[in-house]
Amino acid sequence: MAKLKLAVLISGRGSNLQALIDACADPAYPAEIALVISNVAGVQGLDRAVGAGLPTLVIDHRKYPNRTEFDLEMTQAMEAAGTELVCLAGFMRLLSEAFVAHWHDRMINIHPSLLPAFKGLDVQARAIAAGARFSGCTVHYVRHEMDVGPIIVQAVVPIHAGDDAGALAARILAQEHVIYPAAVRWIAEGRVTIADERVSVDGAQPPNVGAINPVP
Ligand code: GAR
Repeated sequence: MAKLKLAVLISGRGSNLQALIDACADPAYPAEIALVISNVAGVQGLDRAVGAGLPTLVIDHRKYPNRTEFDLEMTQAMEAAGTELVCLAGFMRLLSEAFVAHWHDRMINIHPSLLPAFKGLDVQARAIAAGARFSGCTVHYVRHEMDVGPIIVQAVVPIHAGDDAGALAARILAQEHVIYPAAVRWIAEGRVTIADERVSVDGAQPPNVGAINPVP
């Protein structure tokens, strides 16, 4: 069967891109990366893409008069590559309403919190400062409002006493690398439907245990 063609948008380290590259290396994985776009030149994520033999493009937002022109350039490049699903992977630019509308239900994002809690930036530090006992990560479809959209999958991690933002980010990141390729797989397999802005994943199993932190 034809594989789902992905465009992965990055701005930096690209560890989630790497998780997708690694997943796609399995011949049985139902998606393939058609294009990697970074809005920043020289980032580690671009090296990862080149190392995997993927087509890459740097589209530097600073070279465009406005967000609309920048977004149009990305859409043209992604369409030329045959993109069917856009995967935001640490892409740190807000997107225009027209761009989000164009890729409606065809663009997903990974965010390092349990949405709808802790949208925006510095989310690990904010979760610690709030005294939360758990945090995690979310893969969701993208809507115009930042870090809002139908949730496909979440992973929960405990916050340990004494965690700093870096320690918590690393614990969350390990789960990001599990759930992002899983979400893409489900979409590629045609198992994901959205109704009334809620996602169902055909045949997916819920876990049957909860977690308590601290342990009583
Ligand atoms: C990841 O933790 C991702 O969830 C986060 O940026 C990091 C990128 O890491 N994204 C956001 O905060 C988007 N709101 P990576 O470049 O190694 O994949």
